[in-house]
Amino acid sequence: MTNRIYSIAIDGPAGAGKSTIARTAAERLGIVYVDTGAIYRTIGYAVLANGIELSDVAKIEDYLPNAHISMDWIDGVQHMFLNSEDVTSNIRSAEVSSSASIVAAIPAVRKYLLEMQREVARKRSVIMDGRDIATVVLPQAEVKIYLFASAEIRAKRRWLEMPEVPYETVLQQVIERDNRDMNREVAPLRPAEDSVMLDTSELDLQQSIEAVINIVREKLAL
Ligand code: DC
Repeated sequence: MTNRIYSIAIDGPAGAGKSTIARTAAERLGIVYVDTGAIYRTIGYAVLANGIELSDVAKIEDYLPNAHISMDWIDGVQHMFLNSEDVTSNIRSAEVSSSASIVAAIPAVRKYLLEMQREVARKRSVIMDGRDIATVVLPQAEVKIYLFASAEIRAKRRWLEMPEVPYETVLQQVIERDNRDMNREVAPLRPAEDSVMLDTSELDLQQSIEAVINIVREKLAL
């Protein structure tokens, strides 16, 4: 739609629909979707795989230089590599979700991962989602959107994807992760001052995607 390089930052709590919405919007706009949660998940997975206690911050910090993380897009799908091993299919479990959220609160982990996120956005137009994209990673992003929905609605969406886990448990996990992501000292989840707030509680996926595309078109005058 345009030849200039631009960035779209999408932040919000777990389960607000960020990744599905951002992936589809990226396809429609013909730009790359960058899932930064997958990067934190890769560290969370690496820490578990190395048998490091999640409470042992010093050990996690010592381990970081040994975690060579990279990403690549294969058939349009973002793959994560840990020391050259493709770990894409290992990072989606509930255990890794929780581990990712714990390691993401460690300042050294965030610092270690910051530059690789900025680097992707330097070379091409991206739609990047996470928790601190508009506030920390890409504060100069042309479009900033904060996607949210109530904890109950987000838990219900998650639960419909994995009905074998009781709804109450899923809701509890959502609330715990929100608390950790929003109340950590470094780069807590919050909207940037100039983020457009988009509440998806009453919107289905298609409506949410259209809402995001409309915001992008308006901001970029496409
Ligand atoms: O979006 P997700 O559920 O895949 O993210 C996994 C964890 O990583 C989440 O609990 C918060 C953390 N995260 C973060 O702190 N900053 C980001 N930019 C992306 C994710």
